[in-house]
Amino acid sequence: MENKSINRRAFLRNSAGLAAGALLLQAGANKVFGATAKTPVIPTVKLNNGLPMPLIGFGTNTLTGEVGTRSVADAISVGYRLIDTAHVYTNEEAVGEGIRQSGINRKELFITSKLWVDFAGYESTKKAFQTSIDKLGTDYLDLYLIHRPRGDVKGSWKAMEELYKAGKIKAIGVSNFEPAQLTGLMKDATVKPAVNQIETHVFFQENNLYEVLNKENIQHEAWSPFAAGRNNIFSNPTLAAIAQKHNKTIAQVCLRWHYQRGIVAIPRSQNKAHMMENLNIFDFELDVMDLQTIAVLDLNKTQFPEWG
Ligand SMILES: NC(=O)c1ccc[n+]([C@@H]2O[C@H](COP(=O)([O-])OP(=O)(O)OC[C@H]3O[C@@H](n4cnc5c(N)ncnc54)[C@H](OP(=O)(O)O)[C@@H]3O)[C@@H](O)[C@H]2O)c1
Repeated sequence: MENKSINRRAFLRNSAGLAAGALLLQAGANKVFGATAKTPVIPTVKLNNGLPMPLIGFGTNTLTGEVGTRSVADAISVGYRLIDTAHVYTNEEAVGEGIRQSGINRKELFITSKLWVDFAGYESTKKAFQTSIDKLGTDYLDLYLIHRPRGDVKGSWKAMEELYKAGKIKAIGVSNFEPAQLTGLMKDATVKPAVNQIETHVFFQENNLYEVLNKENIQHEAWSPFAAGRNNIFSNPTLAAIAQKHNKTIAQVCLRWHYQRGIVAIPRSQNKAHMMENLNIFDFELDVMDLQTIAVLDLNKTQFPEWG
């Protein structure tokens, strides 16, 4: 199949222009992540191995059991195709059930899971990967990430490279890696990480890491794109003014900001109206003034100090 997703560097160039959303629509990304007449088109970005990845996905941390299953099925029904889970969320079975209930073809989805720190090392990574896909009820992952840079990261990476080369994972990457940790990993790697998933939102913009990832052609993926609601993000007066100017919500302004930076964002919600709202960001553009105003909101520190 011809790859219709837009090249990452071209995306970053285009997204500065006035018609980024329209350009992406013309690029025909929907052919890859099959939207229907009822669901919106979610543009994709091409990873460094050529794999298209949706620029908005669905986060599932804390969505366990029946809530997890229902939320994932709802998210897919309104158009999400990227589903982000992890061993440590204890919801891979619930997520898998939501996927089955959605009735969607597996090939239409982009499923991410993550290797937890307890399983760092060559043998344990292989076992943990198998456990994750068994729980999800799939025979491959689109993306598998080392969740945190702890323990025998090189052993884990070797196992992931083998799984990647065997076709069991379409792209491999990391999460919560600082530049020095990325460099250390890449020294002995035969496959370059495709993604680094890191905390990124208006209060922690990660500008330095953003530059490093762009330079390395490693996709920046934002976890907690709303800072999980912390620091009163949903009533922030600066964001409220920008939202009002565009007749949008604060959530949409936050996600549009990620999108215009070329960052993949994975908002979580268990509210179907919010899920739809969070996909409705492709018909407006933050202007230079908006971007400068948002830049000032950066506190340059984590909103989750308890996870440090
Ligand atoms: N790699 C890592 O170490 C790591 C760490 C943390 C998270 N993650 C991933 O990133 C995902 C997202 O981060 P997160 O779960 O921490 O939080 P988040 O997506 O930043 O925020 C979720 C919160 O925002 C609310 N919300 C969503 N849409 C909204 C809207 N349109 N209007 C108002 N409120 C809205 C949700 O409430 P409602 O449910 O009521 O909508 C929920 O309380 C996670 O689920 C997980 O997949 C990865």
